[in-house]
Amino acid sequence: MAKAPREVRFGIVSTAMIATKVCGGMHQAKGATPAAVASRKLAKAKAWAKKHKVPRAFGSYEEMLDDPDIDAVYIALPPSMHHEWTIKAAEHGKHVLCEKPLAMNHAQAVEMADACRQHNVQLMDGVFWVHHARAHHLRKTLDTGILGKTRRVTSAFTFCWDKVPKDNIRVRPELGGGSVGDLGWYCVRITHFVYRQLPKRVFATARYFNDVDFNLSATLWYPDEKMASFDCGFDTVMRQWFEIAGSKNTLVCEDFVLPLSDKEASYYSHDGSGKKGKRFTIKNCVQQTAMVEDFAKIVLSGKLDPKWTEESLATQKVVDAIARSARTETIVELE
Ligand SMILES: NC(=O)c1ccc[n+]([C@@H]2O[C@H](COP(=O)([O-])OP(=O)(O)OC[C@H]3O[C@@H](n4cnc5c(N)ncnc54)[C@H](OP(=O)(O)O)[C@@H]3O)[C@@H](O)[C@H]2O)c1
Repeated sequence: MAKAPREVRFGIVSTAMIATKVCGGMHQAKGATPAAVASRKLAKAKAWAKKHKVPRAFGSYEEMLDDPDIDAVYIALPPSMHHEWTIKAAEHGKHVLCEKPLAMNHAQAVEMADACRQHNVQLMDGVFWVHHARAHHLRKTLDTGILGKTRRVTSAFTFCWDKVPKDNIRVRPELGGGSVGDLGWYCVRITHFVYRQLPKRVFATARYFNDVDFNLSATLWYPDEKMASFDCGFDTVMRQWFEIAGSKNTLVCEDFVLPLSDKEASYYSHDGSGKKGKRFTIKNCVQQTAMVEDFAKIVLSGKLDPKWTEESLATQKVVDAIARSARTETIVELE
Protein backbone atom coordinates (compact mmCIF):
# COMPACT_ATOMS: atom_id res chain seq x y z
CA MET A 1 0.00 0.00 0.00
CA ALA A 2 1.31 3.46 -0.92
CA LYS A 3 2.25 5.90 1.86
CA ALA A 4 -0.93 6.79 3.70
CA PRO A 5 -2.13 10.39 3.18
CA ARG A 6 -3.35 12.50 6.14
CA GLU A 7 -6.71 13.00 4.55
CA VAL A 8 -8.20 10.78 1.90
CA ARG A 9 -8.73 12.81 -1.26
CA PHE A 10 -11.71 11.30 -3.06
CA GLY A 11 -12.36 11.51 -6.77
CA ILE A 12 -16.05 11.07 -7.51
CA VAL A 13 -16.66 9.06 -10.66
CA SER A 14 -19.77 10.52 -12.34
CA THR A 15 -22.38 13.08 -11.44
CA ALA A 16 -24.91 10.37 -10.51
CA MET A 17 -27.91 11.18 -8.38
CA ILE A 18 -26.46 9.26 -5.41
CA ALA A 19 -23.11 11.07 -5.64
CA THR A 20 -24.76 14.18 -4.17
CA LYS A 21 -25.48 12.38 -0.91
CA VAL A 22 -22.09 10.69 -0.67
CA CYS A 23 -20.29 13.93 -1.53
CA GLY A 24 -22.14 15.49 1.41
CA GLY A 25 -20.79 12.65 3.54
CA MET A 26 -17.26 13.36 2.30
CA HIS A 27 -17.60 17.02 3.29
CA GLN A 28 -18.71 16.03 6.79
CA ALA A 29 -16.43 13.04 7.35
CA LYS A 30 -13.27 13.19 9.42
CA GLY A 31 -10.20 12.13 7.45
CA ALA A 32 -11.72 12.58 3.99
CA THR A 33 -12.45 15.26 1.46
CA PRO A 34 -14.16 15.35 -1.96
CA ALA A 35 -11.20 16.52 -4.03
CA ALA A 36 -12.58 16.14 -7.56
CA VAL A 37 -15.45 14.94 -9.71
CA ALA A 38 -15.26 13.43 -13.20
CA SER A 39 -18.00 13.28 -15.77
CA ARG A 40 -18.18 12.27 -19.42
CA LYS A 41 -18.62 15.97 -20.17
CA LEU A 42 -16.35 18.63 -18.68
CA ALA A 43 -19.12 21.26 -18.52
CA LYS A 44 -21.29 18.86 -16.51
CA ALA A 45 -18.41 18.05 -14.15
CA LYS A 46 -17.65 21.76 -13.66
CA ALA A 47 -21.27 22.66 -12.93
CA TRP A 48 -21.61 19.76 -10.50
CA ALA A 49 -18.31 20.62 -8.79
CA LYS A 50 -19.45 24.20 -8.29
CA LYS A 51 -22.83 23.19 -6.91
CA HIS A 52 -21.36 20.65 -4.47
CA LYS A 53 -18.26 22.61 -3.49
CA VAL A 54 -15.79 20.17 -4.99
CA PRO A 55 -12.52 21.94 -5.91
CA ARG A 56 -11.64 20.18 -9.18
CA ALA A 57 -13.50 18.83 -12.22
CA PHE A 58 -12.43 16.44 -14.97
CA GLY A 59 -14.02 15.84 -18.38
CA SER A 60 -13.21 12.11 -18.35
CA TYR A 61 -13.00 9.42 -15.70
CA GLU A 62 -9.61 8.28 -17.01
CA GLU A 63 -8.09 11.74 -16.61
CA MET A 64 -9.05 11.79 -12.92
CA LEU A 65 -7.46 8.37 -12.40
CA ASP A 66 -4.20 9.72 -13.84
CA ASP A 67 -4.11 12.49 -11.25
CA PRO A 68 -1.59 11.77 -8.45
CA ASP A 69 -3.53 13.99 -6.02
CA ILE A 70 -6.45 11.56 -5.89
CA ASP A 71 -6.09 8.76 -3.30
CA ALA A 72 -9.42 7.00 -3.69
CA VAL A 73 -12.40 6.93 -6.00
CA TYR A 74 -16.08 6.68 -5.27
CA ILE A 75 -17.63 4.89 -8.26
CA ALA A 76 -21.26 5.90 -8.75
CA LEU A 77 -21.66 4.52 -12.26
CA PRO A 78 -24.34 2.13 -13.54
CA PRO A 79 -23.62 -1.46 -12.36
CA SER A 80 -22.43 -2.60 -15.80
CA MET A 81 -19.48 -0.18 -15.50
CA HIS A 82 -18.34 -1.07 -11.97
CA HIS A 83 -16.04 -3.90 -13.10
CA GLU A 84 -14.16 -1.87 -15.71
CA TRP A 85 -13.68 1.24 -13.58
CA THR A 86 -12.81 -0.56 -10.35
CA ILE A 87 -10.06 -2.47 -12.12
CA LYS A 88 -8.77 0.66 -13.86
CA ALA A 89 -8.80 2.56 -10.56
CA ALA A 90 -6.91 -0.26 -8.83
CA GLU A 91 -4.32 -0.28 -11.63
CA HIS A 92 -3.84 3.44 -10.99
CA GLY A 93 -3.27 2.72 -7.29
CA LYS A 94 -6.57 4.27 -6.15
CA HIS A 95 -8.64 2.80 -3.32
CA VAL A 96 -12.19 1.98 -4.42
CA LEU A 97 -15.52 2.70 -2.79
CA CYS A 98 -17.88 1.26 -5.40
CA GLU A 99 -21.64 1.49 -5.49
CA LYS A 100 -23.85 -1.57 -5.24
CA PRO A 101 -24.51 -3.97 -6.82
CA LEU A 102 -20.75 -4.48 -6.87
CA ALA A 103 -20.80 -6.14 -10.29
CA MET A 104 -22.94 -7.81 -12.93
CA ASN A 105 -22.05 -11.23 -11.51
CA HIS A 106 -19.80 -12.99 -9.02
CA ALA A 107 -17.05 -13.74 -11.57
CA GLN A 108 -16.67 -10.01 -12.25
CA ALA A 109 -16.72 -9.24 -8.53
CA VAL A 110 -13.90 -11.74 -7.93
CA GLU A 111 -11.81 -10.09 -10.66
CA MET A 112 -12.40 -6.69 -9.06
CA ALA A 113 -11.39 -8.00 -5.64
CA ASP A 114 -8.28 -9.66 -7.11
CA ALA A 115 -7.24 -6.45 -8.89
CA CYS A 116 -7.60 -4.41 -5.71
CA ARG A 117 -5.68 -6.97 -3.67
CA GLN A 118 -2.92 -7.14 -6.29
CA HIS A 119 -2.54 -3.35 -6.31
CA ASN A 120 -2.84 -3.08 -2.55
CA VAL A 121 -5.93 -0.90 -2.49
CA GLN A 122 -9.13 -1.23 -0.49
CA LEU A 123 -12.39 -2.35 -2.08
CA MET A 124 -15.69 -1.66 -0.33
CA ASP A 125 -19.23 -1.50 -1.65
CA GLY A 126 -21.51 1.49 -1.11
CA VAL A 127 -24.00 -0.01 1.35
CA PHE A 128 -24.56 2.76 3.89
CA TRP A 129 -26.57 1.05 6.61
CA VAL A 130 -23.84 -1.37 7.72
CA HIS A 131 -21.82 1.68 8.85
CA HIS A 132 -24.64 3.23 10.87
CA ALA A 133 -24.18 3.10 14.65
CA ARG A 134 -27.49 1.23 14.70
CA ALA A 135 -25.88 -1.70 12.87
CA HIS A 136 -23.13 -1.89 15.51
CA HIS A 137 -25.79 -1.78 18.23
CA LEU A 138 -27.78 -4.50 16.49
CA ARG A 139 -24.69 -6.70 16.26
CA LYS A 140 -24.18 -6.42 20.03
CA THR A 141 -27.84 -7.15 20.70
CA LEU A 142 -27.75 -10.24 18.48
CA ASP A 143 -24.58 -11.41 20.22
CA THR A 144 -26.38 -11.37 23.61
CA GLY A 145 -28.43 -14.31 22.35
CA ILE A 146 -31.70 -12.38 22.84
CA LEU A 147 -33.39 -14.28 20.01
CA GLY A 148 -32.80 -17.76 21.41
CA LYS A 149 -32.31 -19.93 18.35
CA THR A 150 -32.43 -17.70 15.27
CA ARG A 151 -34.97 -19.02 12.80
CA ARG A 152 -35.87 -16.44 10.18
CA VAL A 153 -34.71 -13.18 8.67
CA THR A 154 -37.50 -11.54 6.69
CA SER A 155 -37.06 -8.24 4.90
CA ALA A 156 -38.42 -5.99 2.17
CA PHE A 157 -37.11 -3.11 0.16
CA THR A 158 -39.45 -1.63 -2.42
CA PHE A 159 -40.54 1.67 -3.88
CA CYS A 160 -43.20 2.50 -6.42
CA TRP A 161 -42.93 4.25 -9.74
CA ASP A 162 -46.30 5.52 -10.97
CA LYS A 163 -44.90 5.64 -14.46
CA VAL A 164 -41.75 3.70 -15.30
CA PRO A 165 -38.94 6.05 -16.36
CA LYS A 166 -37.67 4.00 -19.29
CA ASP A 167 -34.27 5.68 -19.41
CA ASN A 168 -33.54 4.98 -15.71
CA ILE A 169 -30.54 2.70 -15.21
CA ARG A 170 -32.73 0.37 -13.07
CA VAL A 171 -34.81 -0.75 -16.06
CA ARG A 172 -31.98 -0.96 -18.59
CA PRO A 173 -30.60 -4.50 -18.75
CA GLU A 174 -27.44 -3.47 -20.61
CA LEU A 175 -26.53 -1.18 -17.67
CA GLY A 176 -27.19 -3.82 -15.02
CA GLY A 177 -30.76 -2.89 -14.07
CA GLY A 178 -33.11 -5.03 -12.01
CA SER A 179 -34.59 -4.94 -8.53
CA VAL A 180 -32.53 -7.70 -6.95
CA GLY A 181 -29.24 -5.90 -7.61
CA ASP A 182 -30.66 -2.48 -6.84
CA LEU A 183 -32.79 -3.26 -3.77
CA GLY A 184 -32.51 -6.97 -2.94
CA TRP A 185 -28.78 -6.37 -2.38
CA TYR A 186 -29.68 -4.76 0.95
CA CYS A 187 -32.01 -7.60 1.95
CA VAL A 188 -29.32 -10.17 1.20
CA ARG A 189 -26.86 -8.08 3.22
CA ILE A 190 -29.04 -7.98 6.35
CA THR A 191 -29.48 -11.74 6.09
CA HIS A 192 -25.74 -12.21 5.73
CA PHE A 193 -25.17 -9.77 8.61
CA VAL A 194 -27.30 -11.99 10.87
CA TYR A 195 -26.23 -15.47 9.72
CA ARG A 196 -22.63 -14.75 8.66
CA GLN A 197 -22.75 -17.67 6.24
CA LEU A 198 -24.05 -18.49 2.78
CA PRO A 199 -27.40 -20.16 2.19
CA LYS A 200 -27.39 -23.77 1.03
CA ARG A 201 -30.04 -23.10 -1.61
CA VAL A 202 -32.35 -20.38 -2.83
CA PHE A 203 -35.56 -20.04 -4.78
CA ALA A 204 -37.00 -16.88 -6.33
CA THR A 205 -39.80 -15.74 -8.56
CA ALA A 206 -39.84 -12.47 -10.47
CA ARG A 207 -41.95 -10.38 -12.80
CA TYR A 208 -39.92 -8.99 -15.65
CA PHE A 209 -40.22 -5.69 -17.46
CA ASN A 210 -37.91 -4.79 -20.30
CA ASP A 211 -35.90 -7.91 -19.44
CA VAL A 212 -35.03 -6.80 -15.90
CA ASP A 213 -36.60 -8.23 -12.73
CA PHE A 214 -39.12 -5.54 -11.84
CA ASN A 215 -40.17 -7.25 -8.66
CA LEU A 216 -38.82 -10.36 -7.03
CA SER A 217 -39.54 -12.61 -4.03
CA ALA A 218 -36.90 -14.95 -2.65
CA THR A 219 -36.61 -17.78 -0.15
CA LEU A 220 -33.23 -18.81 1.23
CA TRP A 221 -32.42 -21.99 3.17
CA TYR A 222 -29.46 -21.98 5.59
CA PRO A 223 -27.79 -24.68 7.67
CA ASP A 224 -29.25 -25.46 11.14
CA GLU A 225 -32.87 -24.99 10.06
CA LYS A 226 -32.47 -21.27 9.52
CA MET A 227 -34.38 -19.50 6.77
CA ALA A 228 -34.74 -16.10 5.18
CA SER A 229 -37.08 -14.48 2.72
CA PHE A 230 -37.43 -11.08 1.15
CA ASP A 231 -39.14 -9.16 -1.57
CA CYS A 232 -37.93 -6.21 -3.57
CA GLY A 233 -39.31 -4.26 -6.48
CA PHE A 234 -40.19 -1.03 -8.20
CA ASP A 235 -43.97 -1.46 -8.05
CA THR A 236 -44.89 -1.39 -4.35
CA VAL A 237 -44.86 1.52 -1.92
CA MET A 238 -41.70 2.39 0.00
CA ARG A 239 -40.98 -0.42 2.44
CA GLN A 240 -37.55 -0.97 3.96
CA TRP A 241 -37.94 -3.17 7.02
CA PHE A 242 -36.55 -6.36 8.50
CA GLU A 243 -37.65 -8.79 11.16
CA ILE A 244 -35.19 -11.21 12.72
CA ALA A 245 -37.13 -13.91 14.53
CA GLY A 246 -35.92 -16.55 16.94
CA SER A 247 -37.30 -19.06 19.39
CA LYS A 248 -37.52 -16.43 22.18
CA ASN A 249 -37.78 -12.91 20.73
CA THR A 250 -37.85 -10.96 17.50
CA LEU A 251 -36.05 -7.80 16.46
CA VAL A 252 -37.76 -5.42 14.06
CA CYS A 253 -36.49 -2.38 12.19
CA GLU A 254 -38.78 -0.31 9.99
CA ASP A 255 -36.22 1.82 8.14
CA PHE A 256 -33.01 -0.16 7.99
CA VAL A 257 -31.80 1.01 4.55
CA LEU A 258 -32.54 4.73 4.82
CA PRO A 259 -33.16 5.88 8.40
CA LEU A 260 -36.08 8.29 8.51
CA SER A 261 -34.04 10.66 10.65
CA ASP A 262 -30.34 11.37 11.12
CA LYS A 263 -31.12 12.49 14.66
CA GLU A 264 -32.67 9.28 15.93
CA ALA A 265 -32.74 5.75 14.52
CA SER A 266 -34.29 2.81 16.29
CA TYR A 267 -35.31 -0.82 16.22
CA TYR A 268 -37.27 -2.81 18.75
CA SER A 269 -37.92 -6.25 20.15
CA HIS A 270 -41.07 -8.33 20.49
CA ASP A 271 -41.19 -10.94 23.21
CA GLY A 272 -42.17 -14.59 22.92
CA SER A 273 -45.89 -13.80 23.16
CA GLY A 274 -45.66 -11.20 20.37
CA LYS A 275 -45.87 -8.16 22.68
CA LYS A 276 -43.69 -5.19 21.90
CA GLY A 277 -40.67 -5.22 24.21
CA LYS A 278 -37.79 -2.82 24.21
CA ARG A 279 -37.06 0.04 21.81
CA PHE A 280 -33.37 0.62 21.08
CA THR A 281 -32.61 4.17 19.96
CA ILE A 282 -29.39 5.49 18.49
CA LYS A 283 -28.88 9.25 18.30
CA ASN A 284 -27.18 11.42 15.71
CA CYS A 285 -25.69 9.34 12.96
CA VAL A 286 -25.45 10.21 9.27
CA GLN A 287 -24.79 6.85 7.70
CA GLN A 288 -23.13 8.00 4.47
CA THR A 289 -20.71 10.07 6.56
CA ALA A 290 -20.06 7.02 8.74
CA MET A 291 -19.34 4.97 5.62
CA VAL A 292 -16.86 7.51 4.28
CA GLU A 293 -15.16 7.68 7.69
CA ASP A 294 -14.89 3.89 7.96
CA PHE A 295 -13.38 3.77 4.48
CA ALA A 296 -11.00 6.66 5.18
CA LYS A 297 -9.84 5.06 8.45
CA ILE A 298 -8.76 1.95 6.55
CA VAL A 299 -6.87 3.99 3.96
CA LEU A 300 -5.22 6.17 6.60
CA SER A 301 -4.27 3.14 8.71
CA GLY A 302 -2.19 1.79 5.84
CA LYS A 303 -3.70 -1.67 6.40
CA LEU A 304 -6.41 -3.04 4.10
CA ASP A 305 -9.50 -4.62 5.65
CA PRO A 306 -10.56 -7.68 3.63
CA LYS A 307 -13.80 -8.03 5.62
CA TRP A 308 -15.65 -5.50 3.46
CA THR A 309 -14.64 -7.12 0.19
CA GLU A 310 -15.60 -10.55 1.51
CA GLU A 311 -19.06 -9.26 2.47
CA SER A 312 -19.58 -7.80 -1.00
CA LEU A 313 -18.46 -11.04 -2.64
CA ALA A 314 -20.80 -13.09 -0.46
CA THR A 315 -23.69 -10.73 -1.25
CA GLN A 316 -22.94 -10.94 -4.96
CA LYS A 317 -22.86 -14.74 -4.84
CA VAL A 318 -26.28 -14.92 -3.23
CA VAL A 319 -27.76 -12.25 -5.51
CA ASP A 320 -26.46 -14.19 -8.54
CA ALA A 321 -28.05 -17.42 -7.30
CA ILE A 322 -31.36 -15.65 -6.67
CA ALA A 323 -31.35 -14.03 -10.10
CA ARG A 324 -30.58 -17.40 -11.70
CA SER A 325 -33.33 -19.09 -9.73
CA ALA A 326 -35.89 -16.52 -10.84
CA ARG A 327 -34.83 -16.83 -14.49
CA THR A 328 -34.87 -20.61 -14.51
CA GLU A 329 -37.76 -21.08 -12.07
CA THR A 330 -35.73 -23.69 -10.22
CA ILE A 331 -34.13 -24.07 -6.80
CA VAL A 332 -30.46 -23.11 -7.06
CA GLU A 333 -27.91 -24.83 -4.82
CA LEU A 334 -24.87 -22.91 -3.65
CA GLU A 335 -21.62 -24.83 -3.27
N1 LIG B 1 -25.91 3.38 -1.79
C1 LIG B 1 -27.10 3.87 -2.06
O1 LIG B 1 -27.88 4.23 -1.19
C2 LIG B 1 -27.51 4.03 -3.49
C3 LIG B 1 -28.63 4.78 -3.83
C4 LIG B 1 -28.92 4.97 -5.19
C5 LIG B 1 -28.13 4.38 -6.16
N2 LIG B 1 -27.07 3.63 -5.79
C6 LIG B 1 -26.21 3.00 -6.81
O2 LIG B 1 -25.40 4.02 -7.38
C7 LIG B 1 -25.16 3.76 -8.76
C8 LIG B 1 -25.67 4.96 -9.55
O3 LIG B 1 -27.07 5.08 -9.37
P1 LIG B 1 -27.84 6.46 -9.65
O4 LIG B 1 -29.29 6.18 -9.61
O5 LIG B 1 -27.29 7.52 -8.78
O6 LIG B 1 -27.42 6.70 -11.17
P2 LIG B 1 -27.72 7.89 -12.18
O7 LIG B 1 -28.26 9.08 -11.46
O8 LIG B 1 -28.47 7.35 -13.32
O9 LIG B 1 -26.25 8.28 -12.64
C9 LIG B 1 -25.39 7.39 -13.27
C10 LIG B 1 -24.22 8.22 -13.81
O10 LIG B 1 -23.34 7.36 -14.49
C11 LIG B 1 -22.73 8.07 -15.57
N3 LIG B 1 -22.86 7.25 -16.78
C12 LIG B 1 -21.81 6.84 -17.53
N4 LIG B 1 -22.24 6.11 -18.57
C13 LIG B 1 -23.59 6.07 -18.48
C14 LIG B 1 -24.59 5.48 -19.30
N5 LIG B 1 -24.30 4.77 -20.40
N6 LIG B 1 -25.87 5.64 -18.94
C15 LIG B 1 -26.20 6.32 -17.83
N7 LIG B 1 -25.28 6.91 -17.01
C16 LIG B 1 -23.98 6.79 -17.35
C17 LIG B 1 -23.44 9.41 -15.71
O11 LIG B 1 -22.59 10.41 -15.18
P3 LIG B 1 -21.77 11.45 -16.07
O12 LIG B 1 -22.71 11.89 -17.16
O13 LIG B 1 -21.47 12.51 -15.10
O14 LIG B 1 -20.57 10.79 -16.61
C18 LIG B 1 -24.66 9.29 -14.82
O15 LIG B 1 -24.98 10.50 -14.19
C19 LIG B 1 -25.88 2.45 -9.07
O16 LIG B 1 -24.98 1.39 -8.97
C20 LIG B 1 -26.94 2.37 -7.98
O17 LIG B 1 -27.33 1.05 -7.67
C21 LIG B 1 -26.73 3.47 -4.50
